[in-house]
Amino acid sequence: MEVKSVKETHSELTMHSVRFAKDEQGRRKGQDVLFKWPEIEKKLGEHKHIYVVDARLGSNNHTHRLWYDVIPPHTEEGQEWRTLGHRHTVEAIIYFLKGKGHSIIDGVRYDWGPGDLLSVPMFSWHRHVNDGDEPVLRIASTTGPLSLGLGQAVYEDERYPEFWIYAQEGEDARKTLIPGGGGQIDNGQVGKNRAAEMYAEQVAFAMHEEQMRRKSKVLVKQQDLVFEPTAMGKLAYVVDPRIGFHSKALGVVMAEIPPGKRSGGHRHLYDEIDLIVGGKGKVIVEDKEFDFDTLDVLSIPVFQWHQYFNTGTEPLRILGINTRLAMDNLGLSLTHQGEHADYV
Ligand SMILES: [Fe+2]
Ligand SMILES: [Fe+2]
Repeated sequence: MEVKSVKETHSELTMHSVRFAKDEQGRRKGQDVLFKWPEIEKKLGEHKHIYVVDARLGSNNHTHRLWYDVIPPHTEEGQEWRTLGHRHTVEAIIYFLKGKGHSIIDGVRYDWGPGDLLSVPMFSWHRHVNDGDEPVLRIASTTGPLSLGLGQAVYEDERYPEFWIYAQEGEDARKTLIPGGGGQIDNGQVGKNRAAEMYAEQVAFAMHEEQMRRKSKVLVKQQDLVFEPTAMGKLAYVVDPRIGFHSKALGVVMAEIPPGKRSGGHRHLYDEIDLIVGGKGKVIVEDKEFDFDTLDVLSIPVFQWHQYFNTGTEPLRILGINTRLAMDNLGLSLTHQGEHADYV
């Protein structure tokens, strides 16, 4: 095998790494921040599934994405889904804005309506069905870009079995939440020594993860959100491992700001996408200001200071979807608190 690095390329590759952070700062400065609902709505009229924040569409967001979607009355997402639906090696949350229906996730039924949220456990088969007479309007956010970057994105869809890489391997492989797992697995324990124990733990890791995914909380009903005062203003943690979710990458909070008030200001080393679920306001992102309204989407650049202001007459509610947990697990999370909120 030829070793491709020569002196010239070697220097180029080294400088690519050295330059990256500074180049990335520039890309963050130029990235799109605000996506307006009227434009999203117009596009949803042409196609019922619209990617809004997505690295494949030029967004600078490296770890998660957000899309809007409509499920027409009495139909199901993915019309040919009848038993399995689909499953993927990405974490996903779904937030329902209008309509009502149910989802079957890993064989369990969950009924939902406006303001409810689903956290779909990794690699669990799932289907979503509109049971009502109104269209279901929802957003979903997933760690698709992160898994694609890792080279470990697996999406198995009932409609496209020709692209399955695991589910065709039999009943066990189809039922398990472990990509590539299922069936009888050797526990790997040979001998009684520290290395043998450590290796056996490694072999058992996936089975442990599967159990934790199956124990994870899945559905959050709007009425169960608990808002409490923080430096950033009133916050309800929606999806977080500290409140019963087995999430490793994707976390969700809901912020509430009363009319005329402002949140705290902060910056952090993780991607954040916000959905405005009620009210109107403005956000200052570093040296720029953006006015937003209900159903608009904000993509907050990594490590840029941001602060929200309620400029309307209704409470402002913002669903913040972030990949803080992924950065926690890499040991890279950093959050700087600036000015505190002006209310409690
Ligand atoms: Fe999904
Ligand atoms: Fe933030």
